[in-house]
Amino acid sequence: MTNTSDTSSQVLRADPDRLWRTLMDISSFGATEQGGLDRLTLSQADFDARDYFIEQAREANYLVSVDAIGNLFIAREGSDPDLAPILVGSHIDSQPAGGRFDGTYGVIGALEALRALDDHGVVTRRTIVLVDWTNEEGARYRPSMLGSQVFAGKLTVDEALDVTDSEGISVRQALRGWQPQLPATDYRVTDFAAAFELHIEQGPALEDLGTDIGVVTGVQGIRWVDIAINGRGGHAGTTPHSARYDALVAASELVLAVDELPSAISPDLRATAGRLLIHPGSRNSIPGRVAVEVDLRHPEPAVLDRAIDLLSGACARVSQRRGVEVQINEQLSQLPVSFDPGVLSHIEWAVSQLGLSSKHLSSGAGHDSMQLAPHIPTAMIFIPCAGGISHDEAEDISPEWAANGVNVLLNALARAANQ
Ligand code: GLV
Ligand code: MN
Ligand code: MN
Repeated sequence: MTNTSDTSSQVLRADPDRLWRTLMDISSFGATEQGGLDRLTLSQADFDARDYFIEQAREANYLVSVDAIGNLFIAREGSDPDLAPILVGSHIDSQPAGGRFDGTYGVIGALEALRALDDHGVVTRRTIVLVDWTNEEGARYRPSMLGSQVFAGKLTVDEALDVTDSEGISVRQALRGWQPQLPATDYRVTDFAAAFELHIEQGPALEDLGTDIGVVTGVQGIRWVDIAINGRGGHAGTTPHSARYDALVAASELVLAVDELPSAISPDLRATAGRLLIHPGSRNSIPGRVAVEVDLRHPEPAVLDRAIDLLSGACARVSQRRGVEVQINEQLSQLPVSFDPGVLSHIEWAVSQLGLSSKHLSSGAGHDSMQLAPHIPTAMIFIPCAGGISHDEAEDISPEWAANGVNVLLNALARAANQ
């Protein structure tokens, strides 16, 4: 191997065919008939994808380790063990009817960047650590970004291990289904000099503008609230409507109240009721209990506070009008983050070396980088995705977009890892 400690004059390029092949290979774990992914965190499909990823890492002689919450780390060693390493990563879990690239592109893209450093004989001074975070999506366990929240010290390991899914299976129990026989990692969030995450945009801006790369300056705030409605169950055929306390009818009014929040507060507010849990969930029984899971996003915390105030008011009114009990509980409160100018400058430098077009933008979606940003200088790179579609099986990218993003990550990483 050549020791190329100065990569500033050399533009590195990844292998686009190997990148695409690896992306397609890992997409077979949890593949759906509609061309998407159902790879909930800590499911068998997730374990299979993890095992495939470990196999690829071992073939390349990277060091693999795992922490207590299942975050999976692979390290490409640098020449100077005294220097703080660089962190790069994303997630390979998906939404229940999700796409093949949300998260997985960032993990496999970073793997390709490490392999391309090998191809080019580049020995970086700093070690580069690639991580696959557990339960980024929050589709099976909440809150989302569970693994990175533990790594960042926002949740304790035990708090996270005790979280249960809708079937009562805890993270602790689910993790027992995966016995990879790996050494325990000893990385701490304070160990790293910089952190990068490569991701699809999940929105339409880059494709609409014909721009190759999004230089991501920050992520908007996220609040998750659960609304629990307690009415009265009963027989659908015998209970007169004047004597009903139907929790689903009350929930329906609250779903509409969520949808009305942007027009009442700000068109930039995103307000979604994404899931209803209906008890007992039988056609001929009046729903006695319903939970409504709500997702609110905006770059300003005060706007999110106002949204929760208005929603609480709607809950009180619906409770009174319908004679049902309504409780509102917060599940996730994530402040907006701004990314680090120094890490952004590595990304901008790489974009210009490669002659690509770019645009600064803020992320509408949440990412594990939000958890890292308060502790490590962090930034993200976006590529376009077709029609801006994500969290859907129709999610798609082109091999050329994929390669552009990895080339940016590769050059930015090489530069940061040699400083
Ligand atoms: C994660 O995908 C999120 O933005 O909720
Ligand atoms: Mn993601
Ligand atoms: Mn996602």
